[in-house]
Amino acid sequence: MGNGPYFIVVEGLDGSGKTTQIEHLRDYFQARGEACYLTAEPTDLPTGKFIRRVLRGQEHVDPRTLAALFAADRVEHLFHATEGILTKLAAGYHVISSRYYFSSLAYQSEYVDPAWVANLNRLAKATLPADLTLFLDLDPAVSMQRITGRGEGSELYETLEKLRQVREDFHRAFAVYGQGERIVVVDAGDAEGRVAERIVAEIQKL
Ligand code: TMP
Repeated sequence: MGNGPYFIVVEGLDGSGKTTQIEHLRDYFQARGEACYLTAEPTDLPTGKFIRRVLRGQEHVDPRTLAALFAADRVEHLFHATEGILTKLAAGYHVISSRYYFSSLAYQSEYVDPAWVANLNRLAKATLPADLTLFLDLDPAVSMQRITGRGEGSELYETLEKLRQVREDFHRAFAVYGQGERIVVVDAGDAEGRVAERIVAEIQKL
């Protein structure tokens, strides 16, 4: 492993274990005495909060507006003066984000022209592609079971048919827009500890 700090993105379907694995990764860095900053999209910044309201059905916007909102939230996420990813990296933290632009390419492409979504996200890709994107790949049926088990009520994307589509769209997005990036698909159906080991092995290659 080089010196970093690294920007690591964890992508995956809802229920694929992103939060748990990100916590394992934080523990790994902490055990090495390396500071890391955990973050997520949609963010807790104003645009991200508005997006959550849309996802919960409390606000209604055109799907194209939602795609633009995710891209706007990402700009805030990158450039925010105190909470931004660039600020945290400059301060020496490894930054681990649950989701980044591949989520937009996968989820928004279902409703919105994928090329336009890619265009909206060009700034983020040009400014800061992740050093490593981990895709926690999970059978959509298992993802659905986990979501239902959580009992959190369903958000916009949480039906089996949609999850299947999104999984396909993730794989397509990596193939089409991931050139030159380090993207690793991890089998998230494995035991939690195995998945964590697999992820650490990928970090050690950086
Ligand atoms: P979360 O469950 O990881 O908090 O994400 C909330 C939802 O937002 C999830 O269903 C995926 C969706 N999403 C998009 O549709 N596009 C995006 O760009 C991002 C970051 C998330």
